[in-house]
Amino acid sequence: MREQILTRITRAYTNIALIKYWGKKDQRLKLPQTNSLSLTLDKFYTDTKAEVIDNDVDIISLDGKILDDKAAKRTRNYLDTVRNMYNLSQHFQIESVNHVPISAGFASSASGFAALAGSINECLDLHLTRKELSILARNGSGSASRSLFGGFVEWHAGHSNETSFAEPIDEDPNIDLVILSVVVSKQKKSVSSTIGMELSVKTSPFYSNWSTLVASELLEIKQAIAQRDLTKIGEIAEHNALSMHALTLSAQPPFTYFAPETIEIIQAVKHLRQQGTFAYVTIDAGPNVKIICNNNSVNHVNDYITQHIKNVSTFEAHIGKGIQYI
Ligand code: PMV
Repeated sequence: MREQILTRITRAYTNIALIKYWGKKDQRLKLPQTNSLSLTLDKFYTDTKAEVIDNDVDIISLDGKILDDKAAKRTRNYLDTVRNMYNLSQHFQIESVNHVPISAGFASSASGFAALAGSINECLDLHLTRKELSILARNGSGSASRSLFGGFVEWHAGHSNETSFAEPIDEDPNIDLVILSVVVSKQKKSVSSTIGMELSVKTSPFYSNWSTLVASELLEIKQAIAQRDLTKIGEIAEHNALSMHALTLSAQPPFTYFAPETIEIIQAVKHLRQQGTFAYVTIDAGPNVKIICNNNSVNHVNDYITQHIKNVSTFEAHIGKGIQYI
């Protein structure tokens, strides 16, 4: 029986924020300045298995390869945090397989740390609730706190380790939304989200308005989700994403995650909308664009973008589930 539990794999999916997390109020605990709201996607995920080993360092493998000290550092630091939180002394062998191709334009940290938190829970039989798992995942990467759940998810900023966690709003929403990821560049970003957030919080003169904006857009989008008002969801998500990027452009020194193609895609989506097609953009800390479509618009949007913007590839994703043990 015990053997069976030990071999179960934890699967967690990526999520895309419709109301962005952009700024920490506590770097160590990864407490965000504001709440955020995301949609979990079905296409890209991480599978992770943890096992206790008789060793004084953790062994981490990704996609079948054992990571060297440098590459394993973030995960090892995270495992130290987990050991501290739960008063553990064991070390682990972690085997992770990322089904989030870099070429798909999604960050794997959200699915990665959600799957890792779940796999520790599994292998030590900790019986953590999903709320506790969300807290555990947040300590690895903020956005991972939301990947515990399916559908629409809200991460409550909180004010301590115990009060900052995500919660589902609607895990299996019957709503006609499709996300088209448009990949512009596969290069690693030059400003990490951690550094980008810090610069924005400290130096953007507009940062003081960010929490007020997020609070009102959160209320509005939750109402729009409840009413299945796709247009409202798209409008709010696009405005929130572009406002987040305004914080980078107004930082000191200013920076941007946009590439020339990012702007071309924003303009193409606006043009499509003017022609009556349902399409809105959202963009994370990189040049790739996620287009919020529905089943009716997605093929047309895909054709238009691939015909008009050079050297891009596209991936379609639908609404996904919370973490699973398989
Ligand atoms: O969780 P991190 O450190 O990867 O930060 C994520 C930041 C954004 O993707 C830009 C926004 C979000 O809410 O996911």
